[in-house]
Amino acid sequence: GFERANNTMKKTLLLLAVSLLVPPAAIYAENTPPTSQAPPAGKRIELKTKSLELVYQADGKGRLSLEKVGSLDGSWTSPLKGPLFPSMPCHDENGPRYTGPISIVTAYGSNGMDLRYESLSSETSAPGVEHLTITLQDRVQAITVELHIRAYAAEDTIEQWLVFKNNTGKPIQVPRLASLYFQADAKQEIHLEWYGSNEYHTAGEPFREKLNMGARVLESRDGNRHKAGPIPAFILGFGATPTETTVPCMIVAFEWPGSTRFSFEINEQKILEASAEVNQSQPPVVEDGESMASPRSVFTFSKSGMGEASRNLHRWTRTHLLPDGNRLRLIDNNSWEGCSMDVSENAVLKMMEDSANLGIELYVLDDGWFGNGAEARTSPRAGLGDWQFNKDRFPQGLDNIMEAAKKMGIEFGIWFEPEMVNPKSKLFQSKPEWVMRNPGHELALQRGQAALDVANPDVQEFMFASVNDLLTAYPGIRFVKWDCNSNINNPYSPYLGPSRQGNMLNAYNNGYLGVMRRLVEAHPGVDFQACAAGGGRANYGAMRYSQTFWPSDATDPRYRIRAQWNFSRFMPPLAITAHVTHAGGESLHPKFRFDVSMMCQLGMEVDTRKSTPEYLAAAKTGIAAYKQVREIVQLGDQYRHAHPSDSSTPSMNFVSRDLKKALVLAYQIGSAPNPISFTAPVSGLDPNVVYEAVEINLPEGDATPRLAPGVERRQTGAAWMANGVPVVFTRQCDSAAIVLDSK
Ligand code: DGJ
Repeated sequence: GFERANNTMKKTLLLLAVSLLVPPAAIYAENTPPTSQAPPAGKRIELKTKSLELVYQADGKGRLSLEKVGSLDGSWTSPLKGPLFPSMPCHDENGPRYTGPISIVTAYGSNGMDLRYESLSSETSAPGVEHLTITLQDRVQAITVELHIRAYAAEDTIEQWLVFKNNTGKPIQVPRLASLYFQADAKQEIHLEWYGSNEYHTAGEPFREKLNMGARVLESRDGNRHKAGPIPAFILGFGATPTETTVPCMIVAFEWPGSTRFSFEINEQKILEASAEVNQSQPPVVEDGESMASPRSVFTFSKSGMGEASRNLHRWTRTHLLPDGNRLRLIDNNSWEGCSMDVSENAVLKMMEDSANLGIELYVLDDGWFGNGAEARTSPRAGLGDWQFNKDRFPQGLDNIMEAAKKMGIEFGIWFEPEMVNPKSKLFQSKPEWVMRNPGHELALQRGQAALDVANPDVQEFMFASVNDLLTAYPGIRFVKWDCNSNINNPYSPYLGPSRQGNMLNAYNNGYLGVMRRLVEAHPGVDFQACAAGGGRANYGAMRYSQTFWPSDATDPRYRIRAQWNFSRFMPPLAITAHVTHAGGESLHPKFRFDVSMMCQLGMEVDTRKSTPEYLAAAKTGIAAYKQVREIVQLGDQYRHAHPSDSSTPSMNFVSRDLKKALVLAYQIGSAPNPISFTAPVSGLDPNVVYEAVEINLPEGDATPRLAPGVERRQTGAAWMANGVPVVFTRQCDSAAIVLDSK
């Protein structure tokens, strides 16, 4: 009897517990959106660019899928195809369970979500730019998701993102909200190519792999950058490893400065499921009545190789993303590599003068100019946060420097690291609550510093004011380098408090982007450079509010050539800073160094006081040469040929937008016996126009022409493209820069 009574009691308790845990049906009824209309009868949505067509389809039940991505003329169809919002509960009895683009946890602990097509709106947001908003509605909860797709006709490029709206009356956790999600037929091989951002290692190496069954995940977890992780962009080759000119491919770049997660999973049915999203460390919470947007992804396709896809993306970036994408970038000399933190007014005045004499257009004062007393920035351990001039080193602030720069005809730029603080700083002492810190835990430092709580609007205001005040006091400043040398290592925002830590990564990174946006808008004449201990901010998120980025502190040209090559898969050469230094030792000839930097936005990073007259004379020649071709490189089209990881004679050429001029850059980086003859391929010329070959950058002492003797210098574009440009190299680490000019 006792046992039965006990069992009955247990059952009653269990039922009670279950009834408390499981939400009654009424909860759903309450939040069910009005279903006045009959289910939609299916909807086909077509989007066209210059040569691409994308087709979306909502079926009779409102389930949205991607039907087709391919060329408009029908000559090529990509394998991308399939449901865009697989439901949970999973109604597909035979099919595998898909991860989908979104995951949620409702106030009742449910992850159910079944999104159905609701409506479509379309507008021409600018000439040649069509913006589609496909609105989907959950069948039982007041959750709306908008899929935004923006098609840029001229560049054959698409931007995409999601907006999640919660009107359920309760908060919802959203651990995942993918910016880009698609399925693809993987019966044919799919190949992935990606790059790391660790300057001395991964940035120089292309990682190429065939995707196999199972999941392949690429993640960065730094929080505010991707120093230890992939740069947030990737290439998919359909059928084989893409080359520059063969194999259909897709290039994707994620517009986000911080932690990123790309995942590629091929299931047993040989269907690829791919997504690009923020790599959240805790699920963000979307309160009732609030919404959350994913970052944007941008992508383009080519039916024959990476070269065309890169050029699409370069053009798109210059036209639609990068601030001042049609403004030539200045040739700078930066103090860091030569002086480290040992800078002063006198040193700057001298180096500025020397730089101006070399033809340099901008002098950039890097780290070391700020902090006072015990907090002076004379080592990485002090000063960050105290953005006042070091009175011993710069007693007049920039007064004398700006005046001298004007007289010398050189512009001036300066370094900041506004997201960071050293414990040894006045800022840290006065605003301890502005520093991110896991409660009760020891503060973890990286390079002697920690991240401020950039999620806090007061901190954002401080960051803005630190830079804005200086730019206002010295309106002549032409350039700001914005650095970020620590991850978010203490991932707790005092501002957000205990219940909203999941929103920290979004709030921090959007906070950073918001400050950059204000600065770029307030100072239209200034170029901002995104940097994070080298290439940790080489991404499409930072690029929206930065005219240029610093890809790597590794400046030995033998290494640098490969990193630059890789970055140019995604980023336009206009935005890739490439400094000539002394790295690698004096056996490397300045000509080679300059020819390597010439493929991007060329500058220098040398202490002119420590450089030999021969080196400086060669620098003068290199700078003058770059000025002749800068417009072709920075605003023209890039045609890469053999990659420096695959060939000892890598080369590329640039063609001006009007096809009147081209630049051929060819290198010898192997240890083959010398001299060696090599014929550099040329692409993209006007076949009917005659171009004359003129060799540039032949400094005194290293002036032997590389253009092969006896070559016919005047040939039609068609002939140059068929014959190539023959050169002769006489040493390892040799190079040639040859202009093809139609005038
Ligand atoms: C890291 C950057 O990559 C360097 O170029 C330089 O600005 C240093 N930080 C300064 O601390």
